[in-house]
Amino acid sequence: MHRVAISSTGLFTPPYTITNAELVASFNQYVALQNAGHADAIAAGTYTALTESNVEFIEKASGIQRRYVMEKSGVLDPTRMRPRFAPRADNELSMMAEIGVKAAQEALSRAGKTAADVDGLICAAANMQRPYPAMGVEIQTALGINGYAFDMNVACSSATFALELAFNAVRTGSARAVLVVNPEITSAHLAWKDRDCHFIFGDVCTAILVERLDLAPAGAFELLGTKLFSSFSNNIRNNQGFMSRAEDRDPDDRDQLFRQEGRKVFKEVCPMAAEHIETHLCSLGLTPQGVRRFWLHQANLSMNQFIGRKLLGRDATPDEAPVILNEFANTASAGSIIAFHRHHADFVPGDVGVICSFGAGYSIGSAIVKRLSPARV
Ligand SMILES: CC(C)(COP(=O)(O)OP(=O)(O)OC[C@H]1O[C@@H](n2cnc3c(N)ncnc32)[C@H](O)[C@@H]1OP(=O)(O)O)[C@@H](O)C(=O)NCCC(=O)NCCS
Repeated sequence: MHRVAISSTGLFTPPYTITNAELVASFNQYVALQNAGHADAIAAGTYTALTESNVEFIEKASGIQRRYVMEKSGVLDPTRMRPRFAPRADNELSMMAEIGVKAAQEALSRAGKTAADVDGLICAAANMQRPYPAMGVEIQTALGINGYAFDMNVACSSATFALELAFNAVRTGSARAVLVVNPEITSAHLAWKDRDCHFIFGDVCTAILVERLDLAPAGAFELLGTKLFSSFSNNIRNNQGFMSRAEDRDPDDRDQLFRQEGRKVFKEVCPMAAEHIETHLCSLGLTPQGVRRFWLHQANLSMNQFIGRKLLGRDATPDEAPVILNEFANTASAGSIIAFHRHHADFVPGDVGVICSFGAGYSIGSAIVKRLSPARV
């Protein structure tokens, strides 16, 4: 078996930002239009008036202050409330592949590597823009990787589940290096008309270069181990799929988009994630107290505070459990990878960290890493 490293990461940040103030202003315009259009039905008691959203609630309930999106005008148009994407021809790079290539190129250049050093690529994300051919193969070919690629989806845990596959491919010798790419265009699955969740998601793409340790650059992180868990739950669900048209569904039907029982998710997933991390650490002879940093999934600030407290028996400091969701919102599988990408440069040799994601499925994935030699990643 080979020892395995995370050689580098890459981050693509979309061109547009939507602040909570902008989001709430357009949502409240939508509410006013709907209520005016249904004034008679509201007066007759046959239609429930919609309620406004507000910035204070969003910041207090989630910690989110803004989000990046691939397209802004359609989302903020109160008569549309979804992004406006131009269809692309079959011979053009698809949007998921385009941002995947950008994040992957950054990861390769940070490690001083090229496509010739990579044997496989996994496109792992919570949504796929088409069933086939795989976006992974499109990204692989655009980058010039001679090998294999595929797509996989485990919702918010897609990146960590893909990390385990990459880890196994490299340690067993079937690949020298595997790129894990997470293009998350969550703006297209979000119910922007639903006050309970319209603030939750943002778009982004991350990439992780998983490589044989003896080939990795100085300053790489050794991947000590990965651990996956899943258990079925309907509390985060999206029914959109290839059978929707056979069911005569409207793409705007509420169940054809992201929906969740937020309170139940919070209550059920937080203790499971904390226990998962502790068990994983223990299996490698480590304890939470010995961990320098937890790069946690970025769905909700209070969730991460709860998990930090459960693991450490006290509040985790922002240095121990960095937050990026204030800037990015929930970026599905990319959140914990953005946290790692932004907050690892200060690690010294011997420092240990945990990447952990959790989400629909339910699914939980963790990767334990250790800084090896002076920083260059
Ligand atoms: C989604 C989440 C932020 C909502 O926070 P919450 O505190 O659970 O809020 P609730 O949905 O219970 O709503 C609390 C109140 O605020 C109101 N409210 C909901 N959305 C609102 C909004 N946008 N603006 C103002 N008020 C709002 C509700 O109507 C409710 O009012 P009530 O008490 O009078 O009934 C939170 O449950 C969460 O983050 N859960 C974790 C799950 C998650 O993020 N999953 C993502 C996939 S991994």
